[in-house]
Amino acid sequence: MIETGFTRLVGCTVPIQLAGMGAIVSPELAAAVSEAGALGQISFVQTDPAVAKQRLDRLEQLTRKPYGVNLLLPYVDPEILMMASRRARVVDFFWGDPDPDLVEQVHAEGALASWQVGSVREAISAEKAGCDFISAQGIEAGGHLRGQLSLLPLLEGVLDAVSVPVLASGGIGSARSIAAVLQAGAAGVRMGTRFIAAAESNAHPEYVEALIEAGAEDSVLTTLFEVDCPMCPATHRVVRSALKLAEGLPDRPLGEMEVSGSHYPIPRFFGFPPTRQMTGRIAAMACYAGQSVAAIHGVQPAGEIVAELVSGTQNLLERHDQAAAH
Ligand SMILES: Cc1cc2nc3c(=O)[nH]c(=O)nc-3n(C[C@H](O)[C@H](O)[C@H](O)COP(=O)(O)O)c2cc1C
Repeated sequence: MIETGFTRLVGCTVPIQLAGMGAIVSPELAAAVSEAGALGQISFVQTDPAVAKQRLDRLEQLTRKPYGVNLLLPYVDPEILMMASRRARVVDFFWGDPDPDLVEQVHAEGALASWQVGSVREAISAEKAGCDFISAQGIEAGGHLRGQLSLLPLLEGVLDAVSVPVLASGGIGSARSIAAVLQAGAAGVRMGTRFIAAAESNAHPEYVEALIEAGAEDSVLTTLFEVDCPMCPATHRVVRSALKLAEGLPDRPLGEMEVSGSHYPIPRFFGFPPTRQMTGRIAAMACYAGQSVAAIHGVQPAGEIVAELVSGTQNLLERHDQAAAH
């Protein structure tokens, strides 16, 4: 157990929020992270409300612990927002200006509201909009990047500017990084990439394999995986091997994806990451990965990942306390 302003607010025991990661996060992954004491989250991106309900039902079959629902601003569906605000402990937003009306709707139904931000200005506006906590996303992060700053300069500015709990997001995959940002004043961390390789993740196994092979320097910035992506044009971080493979291929569909029994072609540079429901040239698809990819050495159950991170962080914090006492 590592108690912080975030764990007290949310009612969990571990200051880690599973990042929203679209279809990569299964109800099983979100539930396993919550069961381990952290805050599991599930994302609804262009999801039918009936499917969202089924996924929340499944999540709640697997855990009674607090969990979050992550929504991307271009896709906020009013029905899903209402359902999530009634059922989840946290409704988490990303990719848009903090909106006091959305925050008010979340609060009115009894959930907490959080916002992932990419600048100090956006953090101030999230606090003004009434958010209960904020994630500050540095450009080390996997997926789409909201701002221009690396995590530490951003975190420093955000911590000085707001009084709600702040989570550090981007490039955090290990206990060392967690201990470092907690010491700097963060109330916890938001982690995405590290959990793509969890046994419960819905990432395609060939995507996970590419991450296991990669080091921190293989997480590269690009704007190319923009096809059908409403968040684009935007800079995003993918694993280098995926970018190189996609650049070398002709501009034809790379495979197929299955959605509710129907099959659709996947264009080259499609802006969604490869899931178990996709087939074809998986390694050339949008294999998003932050610099935290360096911490992935194999597939592990999510509960084991959280337990390792907690004990490692506790050891480092105790060592620091002992050193300070001498
Ligand atoms: C595969 C992948 C998909 C992502 N999809 C989302 C998403 O649907 N919603 C969201 O808020 N953030 C999304 N992100 C960004 C995360 O919220 C977070 O900023 C990032 O994972 C933190 O950096 P890390 O990956 O190094 O831990 C995604 C990140 C990855 C790696």
